[in-house]
Amino acid sequence: MDKFLIRGGKALRGSVAISGAKNSALPVMAAALLTAEKVAVHNIPKVRDLVTMSKLLTFMDAKVSVAEMPASDYVIEAPRLNHAEAPYELVKTMRASILTLGPLMARLGVARVSLPGGCAIGARPVDLHLSALEKMGAEITMSHGYIEAKVPGKGSKGGRLKGAHIVFEKITVTGTENILMAATLADGETVLNNCAREPEVTDLVGMLRKMGAQIEGDGTATLRIRGVPELHGTEHRVIPDRIETGTFLVAGAITGGDLTITNCEPLHQGAVIGKLQQAGACIEEVDKATLRVRAGKKLAAADMTTEEYPGFATDMQAQYMALATQAEGTSVISETIFENRFLHASEMVRMGANISIDGRRAFVHGPAALSGTTVQASDLRASAGLVLAGLVANGETVIERVYHIDRGYEHIVEKLRAVGADMERIHGSGSGMHSATSAQGT
Ligand code: EPZ
Repeated sequence: MDKFLIRGGKALRGSVAISGAKNSALPVMAAALLTAEKVAVHNIPKVRDLVTMSKLLTFMDAKVSVAEMPASDYVIEAPRLNHAEAPYELVKTMRASILTLGPLMARLGVARVSLPGGCAIGARPVDLHLSALEKMGAEITMSHGYIEAKVPGKGSKGGRLKGAHIVFEKITVTGTENILMAATLADGETVLNNCAREPEVTDLVGMLRKMGAQIEGDGTATLRIRGVPELHGTEHRVIPDRIETGTFLVAGAITGGDLTITNCEPLHQGAVIGKLQQAGACIEEVDKATLRVRAGKKLAAADMTTEEYPGFATDMQAQYMALATQAEGTSVISETIFENRFLHASEMVRMGANISIDGRRAFVHGPAALSGTTVQASDLRASAGLVLAGLVANGETVIERVYHIDRGYEHIVEKLRAVGADMERIHGSGSGMHSATSAQGT
């Protein structure tokens, strides 16, 4: 398995370009299943999860064309889908495989998708996806670890979903995306209340609309979808990755550097920029796609609570914790989205951080002089937090299990080295972009 070796203490300076959003690219790729026509998608990040999604679509008999893998431009054609199934082998490496359930049910009225199960950051049930589909007429059973869903219809084929009024008990990002996709081809109107308002949902709405879907309310908590008989092909460019952007904002601030971050969407960074400024970082919007972060005055503690968008993203919590270890005073970090998302804290403590955990709150007392050691990544964003801690630690930090970070950050080592980080990837056996691991993907 690959590892990262980081020699900390270098201020990062220069310019870094942000890749497309992993969490936008995944539903956008799944949405290509909704039509028999050609769908071209651009700005796909070259990360392992997108390779997995591509394998999944191919398994279903969609034709996925790329110049070389991993790619940023894909053409997907799904004239026929002969296997309406997401097998365990792929789902176990990537929970987001569940995003194929809505499109399959919309297009074929039948689907078999392996249950994702829990993962390092929490139990993460998909009950809200399933109860919404049931409201739309699907009959769902669990068998041998699989979700088997079917809309009763004539013969062996599934029937058509029907529009329904659905109130999500809890805000769910992929739940909103799944049911949104399912509703585009349903009979009649679907109203979804308490929807996720993440930019990735809005990006998906934009793509579906170009395919002929009738959707109102994007960016709000209520989406209204009038089902249409069929959708057509389109071309779509996914939005910049706001979590990668936020991670580089922290990298600039924590190392006392001066980073210009290009190809990003500053409008999606409101909560992160506000919190980092409160903690003492100096951030300015250079233009509509560029941010600059510099060390300001000394970093100072600032409490942070994760929330659904437009609040501070749970996917930025580990990175913020790394910053908090360097801030003067006590930062209270509250995690409200996932029940077990502090696994990086104990690794940071091994590096010398002063962090205590009480349930869903972490008390980070800073500043602490971090010193390099060997640490283990437990999930994608935890890995990013450990990389940031390594960048300011004294001496050498070795991060193990970096297959987690390869799931979601494109060329992270190359990008950080280009702005002055002293780090390298140590290649081990049995890992890499194309190899699946037994870890449950987040
Ligand atoms: C999405 O996961 C993201 N993944 C996650 O990013 C992100 O952390 C999360 O949203 C929250 O922002 C993708 O977009 C592919 P949820 P998702 O459903 O949709 C509970 C990363 O690092 N819930 O919004 O799976 C759930 O347990 C990843 O890139 C139910 O109870 O998250 C959680 O507590 C990790 N029942 C809360 O809702 C359900 O049916 C929010 O989860 C669904 C969710």
